[in-house]
Amino acid sequence: MRLLVTGGAGFIGANFVRATVEQRPDVRVTVLDSLTYAGSRESLRGVDSQIRLVEGDITDAELVGKLVADADAVVHFAAETHVDNALADPEPFVHSNVLGTFTVLEAVRHASSANPVRLHHISTDEVYGDLELDDPARFTDATPYNPSSPYSSTKAAADMLVRAWGRSYRVAATISNCSNNYGPYQHVEKFIPRQITNVLTGRRPELYGTGANVRDWIHVDDHNSAVWRILRDGTAGRTYLIGADGERDNLSVMRTILRLMGRSADDFDHVTDRVGHDLRYAIDPTPLRDELGWRPEHTDFESGLRDTIDWYRNNESWWRPLKDAVEATYQRRRR
Ligand code: NAD
Ligand code: DAU
Repeated sequence: MRLLVTGGAGFIGANFVRATVEQRPDVRVTVLDSLTYAGSRESLRGVDSQIRLVEGDITDAELVGKLVADADAVVHFAAETHVDNALADPEPFVHSNVLGTFTVLEAVRHASSANPVRLHHISTDEVYGDLELDDPARFTDATPYNPSSPYSSTKAAADMLVRAWGRSYRVAATISNCSNNYGPYQHVEKFIPRQITNVLTGRRPELYGTGANVRDWIHVDDHNSAVWRILRDGTAGRTYLIGADGERDNLSVMRTILRLMGRSADDFDHVTDRVGHDLRYAIDPTPLRDELGWRPEHTDFESGLRDTIDWYRNNESWWRPLKDAVEATYQRRRR
């Protein structure tokens, strides 16, 4: 299989590429990534000789057209992904997430007239908006879209384009909406790696608001095994929700990180809450389990978190160059 992976130098994409190279020697991987602040060649170190990495933008129609015409399948991870960045400046989100997905879809549509190209579009549970803390409901593929932030609205727009291109042009596409990922190679702007690296650099961890907000955590390797299952066995036109029953409030995640790192439970600061902060996400992954037989492997969150902390301890050279700039941005925005 000739596989094009957009955004393969980012957090989830790099883990996907690494797992693919290790586990599927029959797959020839090309990565297309513009290496924004969130993408890094370093995340592909060790597998770089076994893949082709093309530095380029997913809105470059000519480049994307050529790469897609040379592929049997495309997994589309590339996006701007951080909610706080989207609140500060939404323009890159519209560019990469909406125009970028449009460009990928057009390339798949045109290439498929000569040779069918299968597309899997990576999306997020944030397109569904949020749930009340005490609501027993979880998101399903029937939940209406109700995005809250500039980030999630651009992801929702991209999902709508994928659905329309499937119906109107018979583009053979699946979509997955996954919950919050954690694991190695995640940018230090995000909650879990930010707090781990705050402790490692002698800064105080920061919790938005009261920390009652709930996220549904899944290990990145489980997200990626689900993506492979959908790519292989999923039905074109379908949307699959990916989650691993990992609901936890931010305060308890913070306290677990502090305990695993030998700090006291109150060794953090409450800071100003995120504007429009979504309260709770929760995924019902039943169809993925029942129809495609997928199961997560990393079901022990504390053990996954311990491994993630160890990874950041042992890979300081990967995150250290990013850390000061990220914290400076957070401090500037707070003023
Ligand atoms: P990330 O920010 O770590 O990586 C994004 C990658 O896309 C980077 O390598 C970046 O350079 C690249 N990119 C951005 N704009 C580009 C453009 N215009 N052209 C080419 N490359 C571009 O993101 P991530 O956390 O790995 O997320 C990957 C995908 O998974 C995104 O589509 C995101 O919406 C989705 N997702 C993420 C999570 C999560 O918890 N992180 C959960 C569900 C879904
Ligand atoms: O649900 C999937 C989404 O998860 C993905 O689509 C996004 O790309 C990804 O960034 C993530 O979005 P969140 O906004 O949930 O993730 P973030 O890591 O930014 O924050 C997680 C929670 O922690 C959220 O409730 C805000 C809070 N938080 C975050 C930071 C950075 C803090 O309390 N303190 C912090 O310093």
